[in-house]
Amino acid sequence: MSEVSKRAESIRPFIVMDVVARAKELESAGRDIVHLEIGDPDFPTPEVVVKAAEEAMDAGDTGYTQSLGLPDLREAVSMRMHDDYGVTVAADRVVVTQGTSPAMLLLFGSLLDPGDEVLMADPCYPAYPNYVDFLGGVSAHVRVHAEDGFRFRIEDVARAITPRTKAIMINSPSNPTGGVLGCEDLESLAELAERHGIWLASDEIYHGLQFEGRPHTVLEFTDRAFVLNGFSKAYAMTGWRLGYLVAPEQFVRPAEKIQQNFFLCASNFVQVAGTAALLRAQGDVARMRSVYDERRRFLVPALREIGLSVATEPLGAFYVFADATAWGPDSVTLAGRLLEEAGVAVAPGADFGAGGEGFLRFSYATSLERLNEGVSRLGKWARERG
Ligand SMILES: Cc1ncc(COP(=O)(O)O)c(C=O)c1O
Repeated sequence: MSEVSKRAESIRPFIVMDVVARAKELESAGRDIVHLEIGDPDFPTPEVVVKAAEEAMDAGDTGYTQSLGLPDLREAVSMRMHDDYGVTVAADRVVVTQGTSPAMLLLFGSLLDPGDEVLMADPCYPAYPNYVDFLGGVSAHVRVHAEDGFRFRIEDVARAITPRTKAIMINSPSNPTGGVLGCEDLESLAELAERHGIWLASDEIYHGLQFEGRPHTVLEFTDRAFVLNGFSKAYAMTGWRLGYLVAPEQFVRPAEKIQQNFFLCASNFVQVAGTAALLRAQGDVARMRSVYDERRRFLVPALREIGLSVATEPLGAFYVFADATAWGPDSVTLAGRLLEEAGVAVAPGADFGAGGEGFLRFSYATSLERLNEGVSRLGKWARERG
C-alpha cells in the first residue's frame, strides 16, 4: 500500500512538463528544438518594473509586509479596476499573493467545504481541478467546443448546476484555447450565479493580452464574484511571483488568515515593482500585445496550411489550440512524436481535460522566426508521413 497521501496521489501530472524535460535532454544531446510548449513570455520584464525593484532593494524593502499586501499596491489594483473597467473596488478587497496560483488556494480555501462543486470548462487550465479536488471539493466539467470559440453554452452550464454547486470558474482569455467570453456570455453567467446563489471565480490573468475589443472583468456584471489576476503574462513577470485576489468583503479575512499561515506575504520589493507595473507599464503591455498579435496572425493560417484545424480564431492569451486529429487521435503520443521526429515541442491537448484530447496547444510566446521554423518542420513531418 502506498505511503503517499491520497490527496497527493490524486494530483494529476502536467504532461507538458515531461515534454519540456525531454526537450531539454534532446538539446543537451545537441538537437535544436523549437519550443512552442510553454506559456512563458519571451520578453524581458519592462525596464520601469526592474528599476522599481532595484530601487526598493537599495532602499531596504526586504522584510515582510502586511499579509494582505502593501497598501500602495492594493490601491494601484483598485485604480486599474476603475480605469480599465469602470468598476469601483475598494483596495480593502484586494489580497496580494505570490502569483495567481496561490490566489487560487486562497479563493477555493475560503469558499469550499468538502463535497462542494466547482463547474469549469473542459478543456481548462489544469490547476483549477487540481486545486478544487486537493481541497476536498469536486471539480465538475462543462464541455466547450472549438466551433463556439470554446465559449460556454449557457444551457450546458445551467444543466450542470446541482444543489452542491458553489462556483463557476471562468477564464477569459483562456489558457489553453485563446477563447474570449463576450459581454453576453458574462451577463448570462452572472445571471445564473445570482439566480442560483452561487459564485463566479474569474481568472483574468490574460487580460491585457486580448486582441479584439477590450477585456471585461466579471465585476462589471455581478458582485457575486472573485477575481484572480497576476503579473506573469501581460507584464512578462512569470519568475517574479506576484498576483492578487479580489474577494467579496466577507471572504477577505478568511483569505488573509490563509495567507498569514501558509505564505506570510508576497515578496516586499516585488510588490513595489508590481505597483510600478500597474502605474507605469501600460505602454509596455500594449507593445508586447501588438507583437503577440502579429505572431497570432502568422501562426493561425500557417497551422491551417499544414493540415491542422483551427475552427475559430483565438482572440487572446498567446495560444492556438488546434485540432490535430488529422495527424493522430492521441495527443500525448502525437506530441511525443513531434518532439522526437520533428524537433518541435508542443503541449498535448489531453493535459487540459478529456475535451482537449485530439488537440495540440501551440504557444506563440516565442519569436516569429522560431514560429516559422517550427511550422516548416511540422509541415515537412506531415508531408513525409503521407
Ligand atoms: C490561466 C492561468 N492562470 C494562472 C496561471 C498561473 O499564473 P501565475 O504565474 O500568476 O501563478 C497560468 C499560468 O500559465 C495560467 O495560464
